[in-house]
Amino acid sequence: MRREKGNAFFIHTFGCQMNLADSGIITALLQQEGYVVADSDATAGIILLNTCAVRENAVDRVGHLLQHLHGQKKRNKHLIIGVVGCIPQHQREELFARYPAIDFLAGPDTYRTLPELIAQAQRGGKGATLAFNTAETYDGIEPVRQSAISAFVPVMRGCNNMCAYCVVPFTRGRERSQPFDSVVREVQNLAASGYREITLLGQNVNSYYDDRAVCDFAALLDAVSREAPQARIRFTTSHPKDISESLVRTIASRPNICNHIHLPVQSGSSRMLGMMNRGHTIEEYREKIALIRSLIPDVTLSTDIIAGFCGELEDDHKASLKLLSDVRFDAAYMFYYSTREGTLAAKTLEDDVPEAVKKRRLQEIIDLQNSISAELFCEAIGSVVEVLAESESRRSSAQLMGRTAGNRAVVFDRERYQPGDLLDVLVTGATSATLIGRLMHSGTHLSVNMR
Ligand code: SAH
Ligand code: SF4
Ligand code: F3S
Repeated sequence: MRREKGNAFFIHTFGCQMNLADSGIITALLQQEGYVVADSDATAGIILLNTCAVRENAVDRVGHLLQHLHGQKKRNKHLIIGVVGCIPQHQREELFARYPAIDFLAGPDTYRTLPELIAQAQRGGKGATLAFNTAETYDGIEPVRQSAISAFVPVMRGCNNMCAYCVVPFTRGRERSQPFDSVVREVQNLAASGYREITLLGQNVNSYYDDRAVCDFAALLDAVSREAPQARIRFTTSHPKDISESLVRTIASRPNICNHIHLPVQSGSSRMLGMMNRGHTIEEYREKIALIRSLIPDVTLSTDIIAGFCGELEDDHKASLKLLSDVRFDAAYMFYYSTREGTLAAKTLEDDVPEAVKKRRLQEIIDLQNSISAELFCEAIGSVVEVLAESESRRSSAQLMGRTAGNRAVVFDRERYQPGDLLDVLVTGATSATLIGRLMHSGTHLSVNMR
């Protein structure tokens, strides 16, 4: 018999939405085997770290937690610690030497082996399952979801793109898509359970392709939006090369597909994009933006951008600033370059931009983007936006936080409303990250007409 605490697990999730979704799959797999969810580290006999390897600081955060858990394990020698996700796939068995507290390692394609790894650890053995398996899509596993309002649905896993700076192809393996029928079934179940927002996920979500059903991402998105007409449909992350006219037309024509596209650019300079192996020039990127804006005039766009990649000159950096000024993204995730072992850049390019220059360039990018976001948000003052309430606001339980279809955060006095309600809100103020609003008094509507 397992001791009660030994049976309870707690997952710390780091990294992207794919990892969040995977933690739901891990939870389901472990619950099937009789393990139960603990509400914190303190009450868990098994602690899992679902990790991210994309940048050095993401790896450092996991290192700090492992050091802390090492102390906890000294006090409780029955505690079992597993590291899963992208770091084990990248650093492999060398993690055991660096962090003796670890009992087992598993990668994104081997979560079905977790019960066995845990049982082995309970017998005192260390184990690692780090094989890639392109057949694994966790088809048939009903993930345990954190929210009753918003759900993530992974539709493709892995990445074939090999951007020079990026570790993801090495941590997630080759691309594979979930069968069309199984995505549709999952979405039907979510719609029947009353979910109000469904986000289709993939490292390159728009390269989705089901050979058997002969179905690309545009067709999948169209089908999903019809199966869940009362839910907002989102998707992330899109790659510029896979933005097709048919995809843009699908987004434009289906009222419940949110008019928001997250389209990482990484640099405003074609020279840098070439060295990054992104597979397109900046002119081609700008053409995709023009196509999107011509077919979806009220679209909001967001991006990812890296400052200080190998060989980046001041002119390349200026081209990134110019791109931000020209496109006027609603929001951006902004990073300075950090070398990842094993990548093309680590093997063939020199990380030659001094750290102080990387940080200065990043700060210029952040300052510019914040001022653009603030301008765009100020322009929204006086308009009425449709908001899906997600949660109580962080500041006060008398306020709700929700998002517009364009993914802008809005905070407003809640009156009698609850998370999950779809509400018309008059925008009365703005910061660079949040709109402040006041409820209009037409009440909750049921239609999903989302401007
Ligand atoms: N599949 C997605 C996300 C990849 S990781 C995509 O293709 O966009 C998320 C972001 O992290 C990337 O878009 C990139 O901007 C950033 N990133 C990846 N590797 C990095 C590195 N070595 N240094 C700094 N930023 C990096
Ligand atoms: Fe990384 Fe590029 Fe793949 Fe995105 S498309 S996960 S940045 S290799
Ligand atoms: Fe990180 Fe892995 Fe996601 S490296 S960004 S958790 S795919």
